[in-house]
Amino acid sequence: MAKGFYVSKSLGLVGLVTGAAALVTIVALSVVYDREKTRNTKSPADDGVTATMAVSISTTQSVPKDPWDHYRLPDALSPVSYNITLWPRLQVNQDGLYIFTGQSAVVFECKKPTDLILIHSNKLNLTLINGRHARLTGLGGATPPTIKDSWLQVETEFLVIQLNGKLSAGKIYMLFTEFKGELADDLEGFYRSEYTEDGVLKVVATSQMQPTYARKAFPCFDEPAMKAVFHITLFHDRGTVALSNGRDLETINTTKDGFEVTMTRFEPTERMSTYLLAFIVSDFDHVTGSVENIDSNCLQVRIWARRKAVSEGQGDYALNVTGPMLRFYEKYYNTSYPLSKSDQIALPDFNAGAMENWGLITYRETALLFDSEISSVGNKERVTTVVAHELAHMWFGNLVTLRWWNDLWLNEGFASYVEYLGADYAEPTWNIKEQIILYDVHKVFAVDALASSHPLSRKEEEVNRPAEISEMFNTISYSKGAAVLRMLSEFLTEPVFARGLSSYLNKFAFNNTVYTDLWDHLQKAVISTPEIRLPDTVHNIMNRWVLQMGFPVVTIDTTNGKITQKHFLLDPDSVVERPSPYNYTWFVPIKWMKGGVEQEQHWLLQRAEHHLPMRTSGSEWLLVNLKMSGYYRVNYNLENWERLLNQLNTDHLVIPVINRAQILDDAFNLARAKIVNTTLALRTTRYLYQERDYIPWESAIRNLNYYILMFDRGPGYGALQAYLKKQITPLFEHFRTITANWTKVPVGHNDQYNQINAISFACMTGVEACRVLTRSWFREWMRNPHRNPIHPNLKSTVYCNAIAAGGVEEWDFAWMMLKNATVATEAAKLRGALACTKAPWLLNRYLEYSLDPAQIRKQDATATISNVASNVVGMPLAWAFVRARWSYIFSEYGGGSFSFSNLINAVTRRFSTEFELKQLKQFKEDNAHVGSGSGTLALEQAIEKTSANIRWVAENQQHIINWFTSESR
Ligand SMILES: *[C@@H]1O[C@H](CO)[C@@H](O)[C@H](O)[C@H]1NC(C)=O
Ligand SMILES: *[C@@H]1O[C@H](CO)[C@@H](O)[C@H](O)[C@H]1NC(C)=O
Ligand SMILES: *[C@@H]1O[C@H](CO)[C@@H](O)[C@H](O)[C@H]1NC(C)=O
Repeated sequence: MAKGFYVSKSLGLVGLVTGAAALVTIVALSVVYDREKTRNTKSPADDGVTATMAVSISTTQSVPKDPWDHYRLPDALSPVSYNITLWPRLQVNQDGLYIFTGQSAVVFECKKPTDLILIHSNKLNLTLINGRHARLTGLGGATPPTIKDSWLQVETEFLVIQLNGKLSAGKIYMLFTEFKGELADDLEGFYRSEYTEDGVLKVVATSQMQPTYARKAFPCFDEPAMKAVFHITLFHDRGTVALSNGRDLETINTTKDGFEVTMTRFEPTERMSTYLLAFIVSDFDHVTGSVENIDSNCLQVRIWARRKAVSEGQGDYALNVTGPMLRFYEKYYNTSYPLSKSDQIALPDFNAGAMENWGLITYRETALLFDSEISSVGNKERVTTVVAHELAHMWFGNLVTLRWWNDLWLNEGFASYVEYLGADYAEPTWNIKEQIILYDVHKVFAVDALASSHPLSRKEEEVNRPAEISEMFNTISYSKGAAVLRMLSEFLTEPVFARGLSSYLNKFAFNNTVYTDLWDHLQKAVISTPEIRLPDTVHNIMNRWVLQMGFPVVTIDTTNGKITQKHFLLDPDSVVERPSPYNYTWFVPIKWMKGGVEQEQHWLLQRAEHHLPMRTSGSEWLLVNLKMSGYYRVNYNLENWERLLNQLNTDHLVIPVINRAQILDDAFNLARAKIVNTTLALRTTRYLYQERDYIPWESAIRNLNYYILMFDRGPGYGALQAYLKKQITPLFEHFRTITANWTKVPVGHNDQYNQINAISFACMTGVEACRVLTRSWFREWMRNPHRNPIHPNLKSTVYCNAIAAGGVEEWDFAWMMLKNATVATEAAKLRGALACTKAPWLLNRYLEYSLDPAQIRKQDATATISNVASNVVGMPLAWAFVRARWSYIFSEYGGGSFSFSNLINAVTRRFSTEFELKQLKQFKEDNAHVGSGSGTLALEQAIEKTSANIRWVAENQQHIINWFTSESR
């Protein structure tokens, strides 16, 4: 599954304030993880209630007694094939419900004699057959025992069938069920999505099975290792099209229960897991192409979407990149695409970013559709990377599947890593591989530097309940997984990594594995490659990265060549309670550079050692962790820091671009951890007036963002602003020049992002030309609303700045355009920008609109309030508003919803005074009776964060302001 929440790269500063304040979220996360620990220690005897990052899992659980009280299937039965028929109704029935009906026959083998059948079934109404929930028959001469009793065990989501005798080992049986389910709009299992086209309401029946929702579509052995072949038949309204994992074999018009319907029967699937199934009925249209695969077979590739989107060409880009990516992966994995077709479909309502159903990948519209007129460079990159991510899963994950969800990190980490390779192949001019530094490595560093982080790998028995499984889909699994696999591929070299991978995929095709199976095959590839010399086996090297949480900071003293490693903790006062089998030491691959020349790779295997070549003399500097291929931070003796700073200031281009970003990010984080002083971190930003590349600028902006949040209401803000203005002005001028006075778009992909940053930051720090520019563009649009002169890349930042600098006229115009917007991304840009006004009455009016569903759709309410809160003027207004309306917001929007805790985070993000802390505590107390679900946790986190901010400001404010003051002169 692709991550659902996407921090738009095109939002500029507005986005940064809400999206990327990694430092600020850290304390929040630590609180979540702390709870995890409490839970672990409190309830060792509980079956299944263990480590999770959950918010809502109860810890009180009695010890289960019966097999159906366990969440895992017993190993007595193993499915072979299913015949499934489903019929979704796209109109409400007499009870006002959308429903589907279905039948399923599962053929299974008995592995161990048993008188009990447990099969998953959730929220399905099963038709009784002779008073039982199912009918059991024997195949190939097996005589089945009769059914003694059957019932649905709601908590564990089982259909339980007790038998009067035992099933015999080695025999084959068939279990038939007939059922009815609701085609709800809950985005889980078989569900419905609605949209209007040309004023007509349209209903789509679609599905999301991962991780545990297939059981909501039909009774099944719903675990990834329970692979089977699926024969699927869909009945659907005439004039609609039915899609599933395989090609359709026949489509005939017929009648069923007196209704005129069409029946579509699909080719049997390959042996596969239930979580990868997909069923879709819609009246969508498609574009189609064909790809010749490495076996010279012709593969059908189609992109499906709403008719209008297809006719506007919005599916064309995805179609164009799919072919090259499939060919790339076939070569990379050295395995042909395993299926006979590839469908990808954009759905109006979809929970995750995308889902890699085998042969029928589902997406949010924003992750698959691209409109070259309206969409920005960020929108386009989103499509490229998500398509690359999902296609990578067709082999890794789908062809070879991990045995259980505890290994999810390998599946998602892998796809999160190779998506950059696939995207790079499709768009070779983008330099997209560099971006993994920002969007995965730096991102997960922030989380994994907490004392309460957790290791990538979990024990199988720690992950049982559906909620625990869902929680595996987190940043550690995706981004740390990607980062350590990238490191592995770098030190093995890509050809060796790919060779091991290919041997793993061929060996385990259509089967299941555990992560060490991959290590075995990589080790074989290493053994057959004498040039690769490793200090230990792949197992022993990787175990240290996989079985212990966190990562090291490697410190080099260039005066004597001493290298040391230490577990990096962002909060120096935090206490690590989780023991590590390796005492928090790692086998660290060190790629490094001396005097501007790359040196032979070194392995740091001890806590401390000397590597004499790392001594330097004179003004020679050392740079460690080239291209950040290793998952660790780097610190140096002061002299070497000074030399690096000096190099940045004289000729920064000598240092590779990724390492410029690394130097900034390491220095700021080392300062945060009190390993270097804050002034050193600030001094890494001094050279920025010469920097023209995106990655270092983005890294700097993210780190400076915390300073901005802490100071933008205080007396020192003027000095900070003046310094940043001085640094950004040359970049702003640079873009003015290369875009011929803002009439063109920069050619380079990353330059397009950097242009957005330049404009956002320049306007924010008061560069007059920026304000004039954004205002005049916006004015031009207001004069002629039918011709928007603002380039899609720049819309978010231009709208925001024009509205911030303008008054009610600008605001009302943008509001009108929002009401008229037909493209979701355009509406989102306007909605965000409306929160940028500096006029309190407009902000208050907007806050009122946010809770009026006639003005702002319910799904956008909390985001709108959060946007207002990210505006320095809006923050206190939003805080007052949230306090006043808490019980209403809570009952209408709150409970367990994710966006609800985002709201609290957004509103309290700047909190850094004793007064605010007191208000927050008071608020928590006053609303204790309202109850708050995930809100409670968010509030506790906010209190923690505020205390940490107060301490940070007290310790740092004065000398930071002094530094900005002296630097801005
Ligand atoms: C399942 O469907 C296939 C194809 O329609 C058919 O050949 C097979 O006999 C069916 N199996 C069962 C157990 O009904
Ligand atoms: C299933 O049965 C329950 C209880 O009788 C009922 O409330 C529900 O509406 C039924 N579901 C469907 C889809 O008919
Ligand atoms: C089935 O009926 C629909 C609409 O009534 C028609 O468009 C379609 O061509 C028919 N399909 C077949 C296979 O006869």
